[in-house]
Amino acid sequence: MNPSERIKELVKILNQANHDYYVLDESKITDQEFDKLLRELIVLEEKYPEYVLEDSPTKRVGGEVVSKFNKITHNIPMLSLPNVFNEDEVKEFAERIEKEITNPKYVCEYKIDGLSVSLKYVNGLLVSGATRGDGQVGEDITHNVKTIKSIPLKLNKQIDIEVRGEIYMSKETLKKINEERVLNGDTPLQNVRNAAAGSVRQLDSKIAAKRNLEAWIYHLPNPEDYGIKTHHEALAFMKELGFRTNPNNKLVSNKNEIIEYINEAATKRDDLPYEIDGIVIKLDDLEMQKKMGYTSKYPRWATAYKFPAQEVLTKLTDIIFTVGRTGQITPNAVLDPVIVMGSTISRATLHNEDYVIMKDLKIGDTVSIHKAGDVIPEVVEAKTERRDGSEKPFVMIDKCPICETKLIKKEGQVDYYCPNTNCPARSIEKFIHFASKGAMDIDGLGDEIIEDFYNLNIIKSYTDFFKLFNHKEEIMNLEGYGLKKITNILDSVENAKHSSLDRLLFGLGIEGVGAKTAKIIAEHYPDIRLLYNVSIEDLSNIKDIGPILANNIYNYFQDNENRKLIEELIDLGVNTTYTLNKTKYNEQVTSKKIVITGTLSVASRPFIKELLESFGGVVVESVSKKTDLVLVGENPGSKYEKAKELGIKILDDNEVTKLINELKSEY
Ligand code: IVH
Repeated sequence: MNPSERIKELVKILNQANHDYYVLDESKITDQEFDKLLRELIVLEEKYPEYVLEDSPTKRVGGEVVSKFNKITHNIPMLSLPNVFNEDEVKEFAERIEKEITNPKYVCEYKIDGLSVSLKYVNGLLVSGATRGDGQVGEDITHNVKTIKSIPLKLNKQIDIEVRGEIYMSKETLKKINEERVLNGDTPLQNVRNAAAGSVRQLDSKIAAKRNLEAWIYHLPNPEDYGIKTHHEALAFMKELGFRTNPNNKLVSNKNEIIEYINEAATKRDDLPYEIDGIVIKLDDLEMQKKMGYTSKYPRWATAYKFPAQEVLTKLTDIIFTVGRTGQITPNAVLDPVIVMGSTISRATLHNEDYVIMKDLKIGDTVSIHKAGDVIPEVVEAKTERRDGSEKPFVMIDKCPICETKLIKKEGQVDYYCPNTNCPARSIEKFIHFASKGAMDIDGLGDEIIEDFYNLNIIKSYTDFFKLFNHKEEIMNLEGYGLKKITNILDSVENAKHSSLDRLLFGLGIEGVGAKTAKIIAEHYPDIRLLYNVSIEDLSNIKDIGPILANNIYNYFQDNENRKLIEELIDLGVNTTYTLNKTKYNEQVTSKKIVITGTLSVASRPFIKELLESFGGVVVESVSKKTDLVLVGENPGSKYEKAKELGIKILDDNEVTKLINELKSEY
């Protein structure tokens, strides 16, 4: 089969598999088979860019970066719906319709908590995706929409059509993203809606691609163009074309059935994989819709029933301050324990002084609590009407609650810090972090045990974790520490010694180095001692490492105390090499500084760069004594001369082709 035909075939198989999985929720091929075919397609497309198809699934991985969001004017305005909040108001809506229309039918749908999108297809191919904006003019988010796997890039028919629906993030995806953000020291995303909206408002589509967004399609603005007479037919028609329509949509015949639908949805809501914030009720017959018409703002033929807000009231009994491992001071709400969506809440972070002032919280206030994005407890507001004068104002502290050092506030920042690096609270948090799941993962060493060991002078340095066996007797004499417990701790410490370098780098708490950055560093420098000799420039050349971070990492490894610590850890048998992703190791590339000059025939420069980086190579711009390898293509520049002069290893075009093909086969 010639390459063009094979590309067509692969695109067809992969798109069908995507549709089966993301739209129909059924898999016919395994993930491994899918990945294998996708890799074959990537390689073929790279070799034959002239055959790349518009609907190729490789367009979904992101990569397109726009410099700004262009405006898109909606041919038909994107309206939102009027809200109703209880059964009576739902009935009134139906009665208003029944006054003008005999025996109307309604389609009830879930109101998906996300953001609406308008999608345009020409000749069956996706040409644009736009946000609602102000309803008249939205923003062009086509580059991000293409990364959403449940949105077809090509329809089953070659027609021109516009459809509308909701882009959203599943509860599970938000949970995973937030777990990672917390590990990295980033603030968690507030809720699924903000998370989805924030993801499509990214200029770089790689970010949206990573956010795992999904979509349900629920509206056809021009049904008459396709001879469609009812909304339920429009839904079926869109499904036929390959769009993902929600299986819970239901055609009902009267207001009692609407109420039944609402009640059933309310009971199913918590078990759904995505958030819904209500029910949308639409008159089914399109002629009748026209007859009902519009108010100045909304259609009169549809309404949105909003579920009551899941907020619970409780008392804010105190605001206490905690000290993080970086010294950051956080005010926390102490609450009378209440159950919110199945779990007991007695604490909630109040982030910083400005946040408490903005919310106007006073100690003793009745406050409403909810769980943002179903995960993080949040104080929504103070019920100021319930105040009786006994409430006490919030006062920000000026001394560390633990070591009493005067707090500092860096210019332009909202947070206060305890500057004392020996502050016990900071040290305890530091050690808790070192032993935590995302770092060295020392099972059995919970927060309280670490605090005990710190107070007993058993753990005063990272190295002390690996000397715990010296304290076995002492620990066994403590109340609550039996042989089983201490054996378990010592076993975990022994296991932790074999952790991959990225975990150690994360655990050491270098400023700004989260789990993800630690992995990137370890991929580039798979042995910790390599970091003793890197320059700020080397580090800044790594994708995802900015100048501030590069500076922090550099300073950390230049500090003699830190080097002493690392050498001691090595002496104690702690692994300091990167042991993950061994397969992505290549002797010529991993941790090497590589310069590319001239035009290489094997592939485009961005592709080669990406490939080298995925093997831990650092692609730099200029040749210096520190350069390890120079790839030379046709018409090389002065870099080639300089490399020769400095005696640096050079690969010519043929050798580069060989190397790249070798890397590709392992990719
Ligand atoms: S229909 C003219 N159906 O809720 C009809 N909207 O205030 C327009 N939404 O802006 C919308 N799920 O973002 C419709 N099944 C659904 C929906 C839905 C969520 C959102 C949409 C709209 C807002 C209505």
